[in-house]
Amino acid sequence: MPLDLGRLRAETPGVAHRIHLNNAGAALMPAAVLDAMTGFLRREAEIGGYEAADEAAPRLDAVYHSVAQLLGAAPDEIALVENATVAWQMGFYALPLRAGDRILTARAEYAANYVAMLQVAKRTGAVIEVIPDDADGVLDPAALERMIDDRVKLIAMTWVPTNGGLVNPAAAVGRIARAHGICYLLDACQAVGQMPVDVRALGCDMLSAPGRKFLRGPRGSGFLYVHRELLRRLEPPIIDHFGAPWVAADRYELRPDARRFETWENNYAARLGLGVAVDYALALGLDAIEARCRALAAELRAALATIPGVTLHDLGPHPAAIVSFAWERHDADMVMSRLAAAGINVSTSTPSSTLLDSTARHLPVLVRASPHYYNTSAEIDALVAALRSWS
Ligand SMILES: Cc1ncc(COP(=O)(O)O)c(C=O)c1O
Repeated sequence: MPLDLGRLRAETPGVAHRIHLNNAGAALMPAAVLDAMTGFLRREAEIGGYEAADEAAPRLDAVYHSVAQLLGAAPDEIALVENATVAWQMGFYALPLRAGDRILTARAEYAANYVAMLQVAKRTGAVIEVIPDDADGVLDPAALERMIDDRVKLIAMTWVPTNGGLVNPAAAVGRIARAHGICYLLDACQAVGQMPVDVRALGCDMLSAPGRKFLRGPRGSGFLYVHRELLRRLEPPIIDHFGAPWVAADRYELRPDARRFETWENNYAARLGLGVAVDYALALGLDAIEARCRALAAELRAALATIPGVTLHDLGPHPAAIVSFAWERHDADMVMSRLAAAGINVSTSTPSSTLLDSTARHLPVLVRASPHYYNTSAEIDALVAALRSWS
């Protein structure tokens, strides 16, 4: 079913104030998300934080079901945490890596993930190796296949990187990981909410994501999926008495579900907001969302390509709704602040956020414009007109 743009915009208070093209940073929340959060905060103030959580217990429990449905997973395979980085770290640091183990990763890997891999490599003697890209700049599954041996213990890949529209072949990588019994940790930070995600079809063992990006949930929310079979074998890197109840003076027992990766105290308003955001996306349909996101991004790329001195830096034949570009006349930070002054939100992507890729491609700081389904062609035109007026 096509998306009803009028309704979607009426349900998005932020569109009255800004042209928001920073959805890969944090998308505008729908009113329903805001209402769920403010309503819960009000109850915390009125009756007490613990009491409000008790009152909302069925709705809080339903968030696990919603996230599971979004991912094609089971609710007991989901941990709700405060952001995508914590989700990724919990999965990654739980893996028992040793000297000589090989970690295979992508060239466009995100800085937070890469520094964690560097730390584990330093501590354990495991080695990190980068999987080559194909001629289009997309991670090459055939090259990955050639790298596999008994020492490969982890494939950690970002699906849609922070610095552009590249979509790495997550499912093809999953097939290779499955065929060789190698653990596969997928960073789906910028994919969830923008395209369909099915962990069984992807073949990943673990997947991390935040709520605030294309899912349109609140900041400070995120989740980790861990396949049930792996889950039972993983000891979280840090625990508390929620994830690991203290059952005897000398013993704790890990919870059987993915909530072993959680801690006791949580931002319940954010959790409720996340649940509503997930339900909202599911009701619209991820196929329809993806089609519109990609169409708007293609429109934006086509228009940017006509501005003298603008160079697009998105890789791959079918880029997602993250459009990154450099402009030889103006630096990216200046472009971002001038657009902000004109009521248009974009962000920038610094070379250090994807250091290997930026170094290999000699990338400067890039302007990053990321449309979502609720944006309009008129908003894209306004961005392009603003840029043209300074050229
Ligand atoms: C590809 C990728 N992975 C992980 C993250 C980290 O997400 P969070 O800020 O929710 O921890 C980001 C953030 O921009 C990202 O772009």
